Amino acid sequence: MLVAFMSFHLRCASATVVRVLIPPLFSRFSFCTSISVFRVPKVFTLLRLQAPVTTANIQKRYMQPPEAKRVCSEKMSALKIGTHNGTFHCDEVFACFLLRQLPEYKDAEIVRTRDPALLAKCDIVVDVGGEFDPKKHRYDHHQRSFADSFSSLCPEKPWVTRLSSAGLVYLYFGRRVLEKLTQLKPNDRQLEVLYDKLYENFVEEVDAVDNGISQYDGEPRYSVSTTLSARVGHLNPRWNSKSQDTEEGFRAAMKLVGEYFLDRVDYYQNSWLPARAVVEGAVQMRTQVDPSGEVVLFDQGGCPWKEHLFSLEKELNVETPIKFVLYPDQSGQWRVQCVPAGLHTFQNRLSLLEEWRGVRDEALSTLSGIPDCVFVHASGFIGGNRTRQGALEMARRTLQAKGKKPQANGS
Ligand SMILES: *[C@@H]1O[C@H](CO)[C@@H](O)[C@H](O)[C@H]1NC(C)=O
Ligand SMILES: *[C@@H]1O[C@H](CO)[C@@H](O)[C@H](O)[C@H]1NC(C)=O
Repeated sequence: MLVAFMSFHLRCASATVVRVLIPPLFSRFSFCTSISVFRVPKVFTLLRLQAPVTTANIQKRYMQPPEAKRVCSEKMSALKIGTHNGTFHCDEVFACFLLRQLPEYKDAEIVRTRDPALLAKCDIVVDVGGEFDPKKHRYDHHQRSFADSFSSLCPEKPWVTRLSSAGLVYLYFGRRVLEKLTQLKPNDRQLEVLYDKLYENFVEEVDAVDNGISQYDGEPRYSVSTTLSARVGHLNPRWNSKSQDTEEGFRAAMKLVGEYFLDRVDYYQNSWLPARAVVEGAVQMRTQVDPSGEVVLFDQGGCPWKEHLFSLEKELNVETPIKFVLYPDQSGQWRVQCVPAGLHTFQNRLSLLEEWRGVRDEALSTLSGIPDCVFVHASGFIGGNRTRQGALEMARRTLQAKGKKPQANGS
């Protein structure tokens, strides 16, 4: 379908939110380009008839939104979000929370029912109803015909986990939610980085747990019973409790999931993204630290660098893998840390020299012939020196030794 379609949401008599969706080549990807147009509420035009137009009056009108709001809310019939009643799960709780972050659903009533007649009256329905049709705002994933993942609906994304109502709502509304929460502009590259990151590190887990997909094959060594999905589950009434009412629990679950999501968005925007910028700068400057390009240096102290380093090496086509990072610690001494072979391994690409491991201070300086050494960890993954030059020297000497004799990888 190449013709643009519009969906109108009448929030109240005086304010109209128009969302214009322009489908590119494939209508099912139409959410990828969406523009929101907010019209000036008609209530301001109404007020205008009652008083002569002066600058002071205009200012007064716009300075006093409460009055305008009251006029609005009298006539308003809030939008309705439909979801199932009874036992609740993390996916629809989160879907409802996400929708409530958008201006059009901010005050939406959440109707929890399985009654088709009541669901039909809802403006949007998640996790119930047996229907998936974004044009009609129907987002269930339980029907036999449903088998979509993020990547099947949005082929430029890699995630193949089957979606739940959480992933569905995130896929169609997540960018706008993040835009609102982060105040980033729709075309800001950072917004897309955050959108991906929060799917990967928040929403995908909810999708997988809801669909009963294990993280890996085989027996786990221990049980993990504190995931967000588990904690939402624990807010349901117990089998033997007198009241089986789920309304209060559902509200508590929305609060739990919502607070955690907001915390993560804040973290990824204000801690994780800035660290990425620092790591990128250090990777760009690496040959000025050492001509090998295998050592990067963070002047202003350590930051969460591992994940960024791996993804930036790929992005910036770094040919020789980086082996060491240098940074000052809290006491102003310098650390030389090995880059691990992968994100989830304790193996290093190149460990500090074997003969230095577990040796400290004078003994280490004597052994290495490098003054002011502080320590090398017994496993060889990190070492310290009082100065930056010293820490760099420890890295260089390890690189040189690797050049001379083959060294066992890792350990
Ligand atoms: C769910 O709602 C339906 C109708 O809305 C009702 O008949 C049913 O008893 C409710 N189920 C639970 C578990 O509350
Ligand atoms: C440790 O720091 C000193 C300077 O205090 C430096 O001269 C020395 O080379 C460093 N150690 C190593 C291993 O490079």
